[in-house]
Amino acid sequence: MNERADGTEGAGSTSQPVRHVAIIMDGNGRWAEQRGLPRHAGHRAGLESVRRVIEVCLQEGIHTLTLFAFSSENWRRPKKEVSLLMDLFLSALQGEVKRMQANDIRLRVIGDRSAFSRKLQGRITDAEQQTRANQGLLLQIAANYGGRWDIAQAARKLCEQVRDGSLAPEQVDESLIASHLSCADQPDPDLFIRTGGERRISNFLLWQCAYTELYFTSRLWPDFDQDAMREALNDYAGRQRRFGKTGAQVKGGRTPVS
Ligand code: FPP
Repeated sequence: MNERADGTEGAGSTSQPVRHVAIIMDGNGRWAEQRGLPRHAGHRAGLESVRRVIEVCLQEGIHTLTLFAFSSENWRRPKKEVSLLMDLFLSALQGEVKRMQANDIRLRVIGDRSAFSRKLQGRITDAEQQTRANQGLLLQIAANYGGRWDIAQAARKLCEQVRDGSLAPEQVDESLIASHLSCADQPDPDLFIRTGGERRISNFLLWQCAYTELYFTSRLWPDFDQDAMREALNDYAGRQRRFGKTGAQVKGGRTPVS
């Protein structure tokens, strides 16, 4: 465990701890199409990559992993693909709880879950309940999530408090807004990874990624294995995070992940 720029601890090298990794898992569809398979086969293969990345996070003592599984915009996909993705989430939630318990993983789903079927909502709640005491990795699955939605729902809660008279508008500052976002109790992501070649944040954790190091790879998500994850962590270890300070004020860590 090492000290980070804000004085708190995390895994990784002395000045480059990785406490929170956020990933946009892109490229499932193309991976399947390249093999003449239906797109859904790519999503299923993507679940294997999720397991591999979790394994590295556990080995490296990373505290939080947030995965973008379904954006607010993904409802625009063909009905059949959306429905098969929902089936995959249902079966993954059921099948993975045992594995999460065995590995001390706590599950949390962030996003507007009210749009999901009752069955899926129930299974999400069950999995969260069953794993809530686990202290190892926090696995956050962003589902029907959007960064703008997150900021808007925080603003709505604050407006309600102002309306009720429990909050004065002058009290609204960055930390108050941050404390009403979906993953308020977690540190902001240190590292953001997007597979699949696009170089966009695509409405993922917009507020939280203000100072996050961005890593883009053309590798498709189902091909993202342990080595690829370690490559991303090594790249991060070579970055100098300044948080507004000068390079001279901050000594950059260079300890690679072996
Ligand atoms: C983006 O690839 C991927 C998704 C929208 C779904 C991600 C879901 C998984 C990896 C399954 C794992 C689920 C859990 C429970 C964590 P794409 O379809 O946009 O790929 P493309 O850009 O090649 O079309």
